[in-house]
Amino acid sequence: MKGRQKISVIGAGSVGGSIVQRLVERNCYEVVLVDIVEGLPQGKALDLVQAGAVCGYEARIRGSNAYSETAGSDVIVVVSGFPRKPGMSRDELLEANTKIVHSVIGEVAPSSPEAILLIVTNPLDVMTYVAYRTSGFPRQRVIGMAGVLDTARFRTFIAQELLVSVQNVHAMVLGGHGDFMVPLVRYTTVAGRPLREWIEEDRITALVQRTRDAGAEILHLLKTGSAYFAPSAAICEMIDAIMADHQKIVPCSMFCDGEYGFKNVCIGLPVKLGTHGIEAVVPLDLTADERDALERSANAVQALCRQVDRLLAIQSRY
Ligand code: NAI
Ligand code: 2OP
Repeated sequence: MKGRQKISVIGAGSVGGSIVQRLVERNCYEVVLVDIVEGLPQGKALDLVQAGAVCGYEARIRGSNAYSETAGSDVIVVVSGFPRKPGMSRDELLEANTKIVHSVIGEVAPSSPEAILLIVTNPLDVMTYVAYRTSGFPRQRVIGMAGVLDTARFRTFIAQELLVSVQNVHAMVLGGHGDFMVPLVRYTTVAGRPLREWIEEDRITALVQRTRDAGAEILHLLKTGSAYFAPSAAICEMIDAIMADHQKIVPCSMFCDGEYGFKNVCIGLPVKLGTHGIEAVVPLDLTADERDALERSANAVQALCRQVDRLLAIQSRY
């Protein structure tokens, strides 16, 4: 029987640290944490091992500065790179983070050829595109995390508005992880009833806007970094769905080859997650307005992907 499934997390910053804490607390994964800063992944790993004595888990975690430690991973989470500073857009991170994600994937992909790559670094959809192009992996195994987070935020704001449990709220946020993301109001329900039967349209518009701005709201409050608790929870939900073959339908960023009419771009669509990564793309009927909103979001990401095409071509000459 196969032992613990191996998960490597590249980037031991705020999000990476929170991800590995959640993973070791699950007590079923072997975890490797890698960062370029000497001592940082080793220190966080040692701290988490010692926490196991109190929390009652048998931590299997190693911290390292060597990418070679990730060899043979089942899942590799890429969360290395710069976060935004207040006032910055995610897109302003493009050039610096393209270099980081391109080099990290180049280091880890060859020694884990069967791994599923989960990308977190921003700008998310574009970095998923970088990982897809750099790894040469099938697109089912290169998946960007944003839709689970954006949906969690939308559900939270609705639950707070109605004073109901967030577990009663079902929703789906598609599109790119940016200003044009598309919370699908028509498909949102509270205890099975459509959202529009619960809340007036002007309040829904405000909740949609707050969802689009939710990352910036936290950035503004924290001042020295961006959100990490909800992002790490979102990525761990995706890891569990893959490792336990849940066939869970969640919005994830993926390289499109005609799905929903998009090509040569990564964008958030509803997918089924299981052992093979993206097991299927789930079709949804969209109105003309919903389609336009998704297209607008995809167009914004398209422009950045073409910028990446130029950057990667430049890098490959050196
Ligand atoms: P952070 O600054 O706390 O950590 C980033 C870490 O990456 C640092 O420890 C740094 O040393 C490391 N790093 C840089 N280059 C590296 C390399 N070549 N190899 C290994 N490690 C390297 O940042 P934080 O808050 O953890 O965020 C990380 C990224 O995740 C940012 O780009 C942020 O915008 C993004 N993010 C995306 C979310 C999403 O919804 N997709 C949610 C939250 C954050
Ligand atoms: C967020 O939305 C930083 O993109 C990240 O919080």
